[in-house]
Amino acid sequence: MSGRGAERVLQVLVLNGPNLGQLERRPADIYGQESWSEILERLQAEARALGARLTVHQSDSEAELIRLLHEGEGRFDALIINPGGLSHTSVALRDAIEIFARPTIEVHLSNVGAREPFRHPAITGSAAQGVISGLGGQGYRLALLALTRLVGEEGR
Ligand code: DQA
Repeated sequence: MSGRGAERVLQVLVLNGPNLGQLERRPADIYGQESWSEILERLQAEARALGARLTVHQSDSEAELIRLLHEGEGRFDALIINPGGLSHTSVALRDAIEIFARPTIEVHLSNVGAREPFRHPAITGSAAQGVISGLGGQGYRLALLALTRLVGEEGR
């Protein structure tokens, strides 16, 4: 956290993985009608209301996401991550979340448990405190709310 007392600002890293930069071109019946810029606008408003500052990146590269987590260690209070398809395959990204070692919520726009079996393995999610799946863009805002509570509880 930066600042003191009532001015404390929660520093949150927000990472989106492969293909999430192409949301407008993906099936709206699965991923919802909201564009990423609409989701982000509402997330930023929620962050202001909760006293959080967001640092947001999207990358299609597993190595880049791992690098951002390594470099972010010690600079952030919490992590929101939607690893896209890497959620179901990447032990390396899972281990980088573990190294990051801050409260983490994994978000999926779609309900991955209700989709194809190849989306059921929750490899990266196993390193998170919780996973929010199937609530569309609202999942990011709920993740932020949960993280303010989780980080707040650490101080007690
Ligand atoms: C996703 C679900 C993944 O299975 C998929 O590969 C994605 C998006 C989601 O937000 O619902 O790219 O993470």
